[in-house]
Amino acid sequence: MNEASPDSAPAVDVAQAVRQRRVEVAQRKPEADADVNLQHIQVCNYSFFYGTTQVLFDVNMDIPERRVTALIGPSGCGKTTLLRNINRMNDLIDGIRHQGDILIGGQSVYDRYLEVISLRKRIGMVFQKSNPFPKTIYENIVYSLRVAGRNKKAELDETVERSLRGAALWDEVKDRLKESAFSLSGGQMQRLCIARAIANRPEILLMDEPCSALDPVATGKIEDLIDELKKEYTIIIVTHNMQQAARVSDRTAFFYLGKLIEYDDTQTIFMNPAEEQTEAYVSGRFG
Ligand SMILES: Nc1ncnc2c1ncn2[C@@H]1O[C@H](COP(=O)(O)OP(=O)(O)O)[C@@H](O)[C@H]1O
Ligand SMILES: [Mg+2]
Repeated sequence: MNEASPDSAPAVDVAQAVRQRRVEVAQRKPEADADVNLQHIQVCNYSFFYGTTQVLFDVNMDIPERRVTALIGPSGCGKTTLLRNINRMNDLIDGIRHQGDILIGGQSVYDRYLEVISLRKRIGMVFQKSNPFPKTIYENIVYSLRVAGRNKKAELDETVERSLRGAALWDEVKDRLKESAFSLSGGQMQRLCIARAIANRPEILLMDEPCSALDPVATGKIEDLIDELKKEYTIIIVTHNMQQAARVSDRTAFFYLGKLIEYDDTQTIFMNPAEEQTEAYVSGRFG
């Protein structure tokens, strides 16, 4: 696999990225926030088990709306498990069990009156490996609308253009919408998957190592895109790339062996963490 940037890259790049980020945050205008509370996620005393194996331990996180939150930590520490439980994608695995709760806009994702399908409509998900359907670019994006019986050409066309523009892909593909999604480059395919994830106007975007199979140029495009998308969406991104976490996120959560060791503003996590373990991980001394 073509790793965009190894974890062992020098810490000085992280410092540079954090400084850059601080300037950007200082310049940001306060956003108008209609519906903003629907995008707020709270993880409350949350523990999770696969069978008898506990993989998350009493996690508490308040994840702000319209910001980027990065989940970092060594392989196997539970990042993907937490991400997938936010839209209940682990439901089909035998023997799972949880304690505590995850709230979105104040409502439990486990609320028995909540339909999982409607929950997932509010949440877009992007995976490590881009996974376009074996269909045209156009049909990839309108797929969920067609499944819902929405087939009006005007609405489909509008959705395709809006989603591709939102994913910074429109200019590159607008003349080839009827071509197979597999004719795109790796970076374009991943942006197509992001376009598909935002086609249904979700409130939240979950991204599990979205750049780990991409080269640095494609990674840069996705990172710029994430910065744009957070104006509208609450974004949670799992990344193994410390520079990426420092560049794109506002908040960073460091996990180790299923425990949330430290969760704070990204600049604090990278420049002045409270915990020894966090310091060791972000400076590349383990993991
Ligand atoms: N479907 C599953 N069944 C049993 N154990 C699992 C399953 N998925 C993940 N695990 C285990 O849960 C732990 C956390 O995994 P994961 O959430 O994928 O971590 P990360 O994304 O941080 O690498 C690991 O020990 C992993 O082996
Ligand atoms: Mg993972």
